[in-house]
Amino acid sequence: MNTNLEVNIAGIKMKNPVMCASGTFNFGEEYGKFFDLKKLGALVTKTITLKSREGNLPPRIYETPSGMLNSIGLQNPGVEMFLKEKMPFLRKIGIPVIVSVAGETLDEWTALVRELKGVRGISAIELNISCPNMKMRSGRARSTMFSQDADATFEVVRKVRKTTNFPLIVKLSPNVTDITVIAKAAQKGGADAISLINTVLGMAVNLEKRAPVLDAITGGLSGPAIKPIALRMVWEVSNAVKIPLIGMGGIMTARDALEFMLAGASAVAVGTANFINPRVIPQIIEEIKKYLVKNKISNINSLKIGTAPIL
Ligand SMILES: Cc1cc2nc3c(=O)[nH]c(=O)nc-3n(C[C@H](O)[C@H](O)[C@H](O)COP(=O)(O)O)c2cc1C
Repeated sequence: MNTNLEVNIAGIKMKNPVMCASGTFNFGEEYGKFFDLKKLGALVTKTITLKSREGNLPPRIYETPSGMLNSIGLQNPGVEMFLKEKMPFLRKIGIPVIVSVAGETLDEWTALVRELKGVRGISAIELNISCPNMKMRSGRARSTMFSQDADATFEVVRKVRKTTNFPLIVKLSPNVTDITVIAKAAQKGGADAISLINTVLGMAVNLEKRAPVLDAITGGLSGPAIKPIALRMVWEVSNAVKIPLIGMGGIMTARDALEFMLAGASAVAVGTANFINPRVIPQIIEEIKKYLVKNKISNINSLKIGTAPIL
């Protein structure tokens, strides 16, 4: 039986719906030692910023039950070095490359996106408006992320939309009361797709030291612990907007990935699982294929809740 795994998200043609989640795959070089990167549906880069960043001080990683906390703080080489040193490698792989970007002010966002203009090999830009380790700098909401404020979300997406012709994926934070309000603001601002969720804000305490574990005190929780939250949010947003969704949060297996697609995602991203098993993405793709064949589903795009038999 022929199974079609191809998906098209906002004009990004992917041969399967599985990509890596930003920040957990760096720029791909290390993972190329474990599997042929051509197998990826798409590669999402670590978030880059206008200027290089060293990130937060250690400790900035902590394992928790069924997950991990991180407060990396967007360590990255900056856009200039990215284009010079990372992009040639990424371009050669021959798969869609999605460049994740972040800024602290509207001007920084647009300046950064302008640097990517006309760069060969980029298929789309993901706006990371939801990094828990980086706050926006504006008069209105000094201590929040862009994605915690519907007006700020709309403004940044609209501004960037005017600056670039690349498809725009907007990445949302789960650290909000009603994620559908933010998703609608992103859509209104001109987003072509939405990815969700970024990490859930958390904290760990060291009882012996009587101090927070992370130097930054709080960090982002990821891994299986957040999967039910992510599934719920994908479901809610899929019922609130028309643009396609990329679902993520605790995907460890093909079953997890398929659950996200049933909940309303058109594609999925795998993050924390890469740290446990660097070959997990090609394994998930193979298992998805097997599920489709076993259940006589010829096209992955037809996978919807209520239409597929139980595995
Ligand atoms: C160590 C680490 C670094 C991350 N860095 C980024 C980043 O640079 N940009 C971003 O948009 N998300 C970043 N994330 C969030 C992931 O892309 C993803 O949204 C989140 O971890 C949930 O997926 P997961 O449970 O499969 O890891 C990072 C996550 C981890 C664990």
